[in-house]
Amino acid sequence: MKIKFMPMDIEVEATPEKTILQIATENKIVIKSLCKGAATCAECRVRIVSGEGFVTHPTKAELNVIGTSYYIDNRRLACQVRCFGPVIVDLSEQVNQEHLKNKKFVVSVPQNKLNLRRCKIRSC
Ligand code: FES
Repeated sequence: MKIKFMPMDIEVEATPEKTILQIATENKIVIKSLCKGAATCAECRVRIVSGEGFVTHPTKAELNVIGTSYYIDNRRLACQVRCFGPVIVDLSEQVNQEHLKNKKFVVSVPQNKLNLRRCKIRSC
């Protein structure tokens, strides 16, 4: 069976013995993980876009970590989900977090837009 990772559009071979996190890691696809699969950090959240019927149901431990997001938008912990059929996994949240982390914000104000006033307390 195949798992497709979006938005990279990478399709890899998978087996039910491994979690999505393990499969991604083996294929050099980065999914953030702080607890290394202990289902405590929630950093490995992904969204199941297609094939919800081919993934394991969330355990009580997983539901305790992800809360209601599972019911709202199919977000799951990649370290807990095993697939037994074709599935499409959206890693946009992972990619966006990484993008924002690496992005440098530069505030640029044109010289003529600067509003410089004299200090009224001290004549500086
Ligand atoms: S890796 Fe920490 S919850 Fe999945």
